[in-house]
Amino acid sequence: MPYSRELNFIHYAPTKVIYGVGISKDVAVELNALGCKRALLVTDRELSKNTDLPKKIREYLGNNCVGVFDEVIPDSGLHLVDKGAEFGRSLGADSIVSVGGGSAIDTAKGIAILLKEGGSISDYEGFQMLTRRQTPHIAIPTTCGTGSEVTYVAVIKDWDNHRKLLFGDYNIIPDVAILDPELIRTLPPRLVAATGMDALTHAIEAITSPQRQPISDALGLHAIRMIREYIAIATKDSDVTYRGMLLLASNIAGMAFSNAQVGLAHAIAHTIGAKYNIHHGLANSIVLPHVMQFNNEVVYEQQARIAEALGIKEDIPDKELGYKASEKVLEIAKSCDLPTRLRDVGIPKSELEECAEIALTDGAIVYNGRPISDPSEILEVLIKAY
Ligand SMILES: [Fe+2]
Repeated sequence: MPYSRELNFIHYAPTKVIYGVGISKDVAVELNALGCKRALLVTDRELSKNTDLPKKIREYLGNNCVGVFDEVIPDSGLHLVDKGAEFGRSLGADSIVSVGGGSAIDTAKGIAILLKEGGSISDYEGFQMLTRRQTPHIAIPTTCGTGSEVTYVAVIKDWDNHRKLLFGDYNIIPDVAILDPELIRTLPPRLVAATGMDALTHAIEAITSPQRQPISDALGLHAIRMIREYIAIATKDSDVTYRGMLLLASNIAGMAFSNAQVGLAHAIAHTIGAKYNIHHGLANSIVLPHVMQFNNEVVYEQQARIAEALGIKEDIPDKELGYKASEKVLEIAKSCDLPTRLRDVGIPKSELEECAEIALTDGAIVYNGRPISDPSEILEVLIKAY
């Protein structure tokens, strides 16, 4: 993958990552190492109701936890971030420990901003708006896809306008990510598969992004190899070895895309996720093969390297190899028993045009491998994915 003479970039991945089966019991040690003693635990409502994971982390924190905010819902919401911050402030929290999927971790990033800066989260929409490090944050993912524990972005839904808003800033990257495969042992197979496909999308879109660079490429390609090897087996078998590898792959892909960005698949997933409440990973999984076919015209060299990482060994031109990569991605989604068409998840065909128009305004569009300027180009992808 040649890089131009003008290549220049910042690669920023400051999160301390710790991995191991059962390692989450060290959360208090990590919190104290950050100089904090009064953590607000931020977690998902369903996770809190249906599992003992948040309770366990609270026990591990002992006296270092001043309260639990467990109202996070899928895709979170601006109002929840404001509410969580108010709660944290009332308790005198000096730090945050988030436990859950992308929604819980992203909510915690938002709360981290408000505990430091005050105001309402809607005041901070956009990129690099902050001038100092935010409230210390330890992220403990319980899915294997978001990568949010190491990324600089929080995606929060504006429920009134059915839009997903992006908050991106180096100052909200979590300080510590605790990857404990034990916490994803009980994750339902469908969620393992869908979040794993989200991670695959992060890796592939990072590698095909115009902002790609050698470090993010290295991370993305290795994440792809790991996902290819472990996603199907980790979906069917809850053994911590397999699920741990997928959790790690998701983390590595997170570091790749936090630096190189994501593209069209994410622009569409944000759109249909907000409009029809379709799971983020599933939305990505459905559209990714079609986005890759659309992009192949421009980024076939990168997609040929992706094909190799996906295990395709054929002595054919890069353009054909790049196309084969898209077919392999579809095959992987099928091997995990995920639906593969937009019609399978209840999206009305008559609204595809509107979806294309909204997706064009999503922040991820500018980082798509093939430049997009007209909604008709996105519509073409949506119709194929339908
Ligand atoms: Fe994603």
